[in-house]
Amino acid sequence: MIPAALITALRGARHVQVFTGAGVSAESGIATFRDTPSGLWERYDPATLATAHAFRQDPALVWGWYEWRRMQVLLARPNPAHLAIAALAQRVPKLTLVTQNVDDLHERAGSTEVIHLHGSLHQPRCFACARSPSQPLGLPDEPEGGRHLEPPRCEHCGGRLRPGVVWFGESLPEAALTAAFAAADSCDVLISVGTSGVVHPAAQIPERAWRAGAVLAHVNPQPLGSHAEREFLLRGTAAQLMPQLLQAAFND
Ligand code: APR
Repeated sequence: MIPAALITALRGARHVQVFTGAGVSAESGIATFRDTPSGLWERYDPATLATAHAFRQDPALVWGWYEWRRMQVLLARPNPAHLAIAALAQRVPKLTLVTQNVDDLHERAGSTEVIHLHGSLHQPRCFACARSPSQPLGLPDEPEGGRHLEPPRCEHCGGRLRPGVVWFGESLPEAALTAAFAAADSCDVLISVGTSGVVHPAAQIPERAWRAGAVLAHVNPQPLGSHAEREFLLRGTAAQLMPQLLQAAFND
């Protein structure tokens, strides 16, 4: 059941921000990070994979793990949540889509100008000179997680390629974070979809929007939220609730 006050806020919104995490891609078959028992960080310690130190220590383990993730993404398809978010952008005057995800399912669902706070699996770059390969990567060689795969070499300097994602301890792309914060400061409604809200600075975005006066909605099977007013928790999955939200607000 979508609260009437949220429907009214959406219908009257000039600017809507959608902020997504791994949960929006869960129903496309891509494992989230902290959801037990399938949570990725349950099985792999992020410190041994998602850091520059881990890559220096064992580039083949880290590259092999991300290539396994990239294979998952290539085999996955956008789910009804991705499609509803793309459709929502056609129903409101302005929509800013900010994601923590490194997959391209929002783009493949038809969303444009997606702000990726944590980079992308499809944009590898050289660990040494930071330049990108002139050709996109081919199909991943790594069908299973946790197996070693030697990273390709940089065509410019011979260094090793690294995944184009933000690792723990690294800064987020400044332009992306600035744009995401600016949207939080100016949107009328922020819909947070499938994020545990534990990784900063991205996790500040919903709270920042609420403090700026926006109506906040969380789409998540787990309980979230801490404000009495202007905040709604839609308990359920993204693929179920996002189409319902679109239909309730715009009969779409
Ligand atoms: N629909 C909606 N939400 C879901 C679904 C679903 N089908 N399945 C799980 N969730 C929720 C979980 O309840 C959880 O709150 O999605 C959230 C997933 O949380 P995380 O696994 O922590 O993913 P995320 O919040 O995106 O992590 C943020 O942490 O490891 C880093 O860089 C990584 O971008 C990632 C960041």
